[in-house]
Amino acid sequence: MDLIHKFLNIVFPLISLITIPPFLVFKSINFIVKWVCSETENVAGKVVLITGASSGIGEHLAYEYAKKGACLALVARREDCLQVVAGKAQELGSPDVISIRGDVSEVDDCRIFVAEAMNHFGRCVKKMGFFYDLNHTIPMLDDFNATVDHLVNNAGIAPVCMFEDYADVTNHASVMNINFWGSVYSTHFAIPHLRKSKGKIIVISSCAGWLPTPRLSLYSASKGALISFYETLRTEVGSDIGITIVTPGLIESEITQDEFLTKAKLKIIPRLSTERCAEAILNSTCRGERYLTEPAWTRVMMLWRLLCPEVHDGCNHFFLIDRPNHERMMQNNRIQDQSAERNYVNRTSVVSLEFKAD
Ligand SMILES: *[C@@H]1O[C@H](CO)[C@@H](O)[C@H](O)[C@H]1NC(C)=O
Ligand SMILES: *[C@@H]1O[C@H](CO)[C@@H](O)[C@H](O)[C@H]1NC(C)=O
Ligand SMILES: *[C@@H]1O[C@H](CO)[C@@H](O)[C@H](O)[C@H]1NC(C)=O
Ligand SMILES: *[C@@H]1O[C@H](CO)[C@@H](O)[C@H](O)[C@H]1NC(C)=O
Repeated sequence: MDLIHKFLNIVFPLISLITIPPFLVFKSINFIVKWVCSETENVAGKVVLITGASSGIGEHLAYEYAKKGACLALVARREDCLQVVAGKAQELGSPDVISIRGDVSEVDDCRIFVAEAMNHFGRCVKKMGFFYDLNHTIPMLDDFNATVDHLVNNAGIAPVCMFEDYADVTNHASVMNINFWGSVYSTHFAIPHLRKSKGKIIVISSCAGWLPTPRLSLYSASKGALISFYETLRTEVGSDIGITIVTPGLIESEITQDEFLTKAKLKIIPRLSTERCAEAILNSTCRGERYLTEPAWTRVMMLWRLLCPEVHDGCNHFFLIDRPNHERMMQNNRIQDQSAERNYVNRTSVVSLEFKAD
């Protein structure tokens, strides 16, 4: 057995060195050809389910889809904000918008909002006659129900805190519950329908998922988990369902308000407007791309991370961690963290402390 591994240790890298460069050339040519004569999906009349649609990227994605004439099922915890977004989406040209109150970290909520979207648009499609058969017999109920075309997993929260400063580490499961499990649950219930419609899943992860950023440890872990999960799912579903993994950098949204930027010391980094980011996401999804990083220059950080991780980590530590002030900040954070703990008990008010986005 050992001998086989010794053999592979030498042969496998050699074979890879020989085969990868020509493949990269082929891939580049393929990319250019695709770019020139790319077929972009027309989303008019299609049904799009967006979680965390009450603000930020989710909200603006709703507007972009609406401008292209897609029907929308919008999900978020804050119903009042959601109604406003739904109204605006309708004005922008969406033929049919429903808003559903739901908390993605609750598995039953996910089951219910997928079913509600299905029921509503199942009928909607029949009314609009997309599958209408000439003899008016309509024997295709099954097809009518399979009408979610895009699922956008966007809902998320981002607590900012040095890991050492979390007073009680057991109180932060909600980060994983919303950012990771929320997407997994929604996807689980939508996948049978997406398979029928040959639909797409759009995952809003984050650059922090592969780019270590101080004070965002739990957030980064949840976003990294999303990337791994959907990359694995992609290998399972094959070409039946398209999966676009989006890793935005700093985008203007409810998450990245002044308080967050100050706390995370990210004020020096320019933010991209939410509108532009949403537009890029829709463009990329309709072209069927597997990954999107926006703003695009952030992608270069991947190279730094891959080839010179010491430099990247060193810079991060040097610029983003200020030791002399650390003790004082620890005090502040402890106080904040304790109030955060109280708030975790009361789910409705997690909002203010957690820089939330849904
Ligand atoms: C309509 O019904 C007729 C007879 O019942 C059948 O021959 C024909 O194929 C049907 N057309 C369609 C489009 O289903
Ligand atoms: C489709 O939806 C209708 C109405 O919501 C329901 O009665 C029917 O059982 C559903 N069919 C399937 C196959 O799920
Ligand atoms: C999206 O696509 C449209 C039309 O192809 C183009 O005009 C627009 O600049 C693109 N937007 C972004 C942000 O890539
Ligand atoms: C939860 O928060 C709401 C609104 O902030 C408040 O009215 C309510 O009393 C809180 N409940 C508990 C159990 O703290």
